[in-house]
Amino acid sequence: MGRLDTNPTAFSAFDDDAYGFQPLNPDDVRSYLHKVVDFISDYYKSIESLPMLPDVMPGYLRNELRSVPPTSSTPFDVTMKVLTASVVLGMTHWASPNCFAFFPSTNSAAAIADDLITAAMNSVGFTWLAAPVATEMEVLALDWLAQLLRLSSSFMNRTGAAGHGTGSGVILGTTREAMLWLPGRVRAATLGRVCRGLDPLHLLQGMLPHRLRPCQHPRLPTGPETNYALDPVRLVEVMQADADAGLVPTYVCATVGTTLSNTVDPIGSIADVAAMFNAWVHIDAAYADSACIYPEFRHHLDGVERIDSISMSPHKWLLTCLDCTCLWVRDTHRLNDSLETNPEYLKNNASESGNVTDLKDMQVGGGHRFRGLKLWMVMRTYGTAKLQEHIRSDVAMAKMFEDSVRFDDRFEVVVPRNFALMCFKIKPHGGSMTKEDADEANRELMERLNRTGKAYLAHTVVGDRFVLQFAMGSSLQEERHVQSVLELINKTTTEIMEEQIVAVVE
Ligand SMILES: Cc1ncc(COP(=O)(O)O)c(C=O)c1O
Repeated sequence: MGRLDTNPTAFSAFDDDAYGFQPLNPDDVRSYLHKVVDFISDYYKSIESLPMLPDVMPGYLRNELRSVPPTSSTPFDVTMKVLTASVVLGMTHWASPNCFAFFPSTNSAAAIADDLITAAMNSVGFTWLAAPVATEMEVLALDWLAQLLRLSSSFMNRTGAAGHGTGSGVILGTTREAMLWLPGRVRAATLGRVCRGLDPLHLLQGMLPHRLRPCQHPRLPTGPETNYALDPVRLVEVMQADADAGLVPTYVCATVGTTLSNTVDPIGSIADVAAMFNAWVHIDAAYADSACIYPEFRHHLDGVERIDSISMSPHKWLLTCLDCTCLWVRDTHRLNDSLETNPEYLKNNASESGNVTDLKDMQVGGGHRFRGLKLWMVMRTYGTAKLQEHIRSDVAMAKMFEDSVRFDDRFEVVVPRNFALMCFKIKPHGGSMTKEDADEANRELMERLNRTGKAYLAHTVVGDRFVLQFAMGSSLQEERHVQSVLELINKTTTEIMEEQIVAVVE
């Protein structure tokens, strides 16, 4: 690919008029964004025909672009040409209907529109006063989504005129951000220490007694006997053993829709066990909670009224592009009373009234993006019925895939499908094929599929065996895409098996 001259020297793309340089000139904003909007729409029109995985080597971008920053300005059209030529070239197209890897990464016109608006507003909402509408929109959007999920009202943030509720929520970037912030808070609250002036990161890293340090995060192994879900009996044993050893069991994280196998842990029983030790229970429902807005799946959250916090990511399956992870907490005061960080320069009457939410108290960082608008725009634009329809349709397509795989006796469905993600594999066949041979055949299947550029599937390991994951969830997927990938899987599996037979004969 030829290189564009992206850095013409002695050139200014901007008039040096009496007003000087105006990076936010409203006419430029209009003109640039029109071009960008056309680019986005054309991208989606052509995305299906683009190779799913990019054919680039590590470091490719340095060969495409100059390695030193330009001194002089460049017309925006040139920037867009580089984008089209060099950036699209290196994209793994997560939005493509041929993407079946990992977990869904859905998106929508309303969410993209919001990202433009939010960037334009560029609000920094650490306190209510710093951004009243951003704070209240986030509170409202979280309360709306909590209602769709039928979370109990104790998770909702009923501040201001409606009274001061015990619960609250915040929209963070990712689940891991929630996981970094929350356990540290819970530990510190359990200790009942007053640690003003220290940020939660310090608390995590240095301020806790050894026996409560975050390195003590035992993971409980799971197996096929519980369909890879957490076993409450085993949990009691482990927590009791910790207590007997003088440790303080503090925090249990269960999952609704695990990353690897999409398993659902029994929330109610886990809450019962945690209550015996007065431990905090968090539910990570990053992917699968979106399904729970659909009545058929809501039972997976049974018992949620007895847990302490829950997080989910609409950026996975609820048509809301990255980033958007919602965290709800049932009793905010249990976390905040001993830990609020309130430097002089952030003090104000609204915060001190106790009637407003200050989002800085619910996250690691200080500044907070205008995050609620995107979630609100998605829910406001599409409404509950369309969001439910989107979930129902993805699940129906995943079932179609599952039925086809189950019908073909060369394959095995490894973990029962709960939502729109499943694990399957080629089974050992022909008497002489070992489990290791089958692992190799599955690895080969995945690599060949991904090399075609027509599909992207990822793998995982369940019960020590290599399995393929199939996740529905690009917003552009239709039944015909599922049919195409099924045909590709069938054809490629036949080729691999025929080659194995020839190899054995030789
Ligand atoms: C259950 C679960 N938790 C956590 C994560 C990680 O999410 P994030 O990338 O938002 O940290 C995932 C990602 O798939 C997930 O499925």
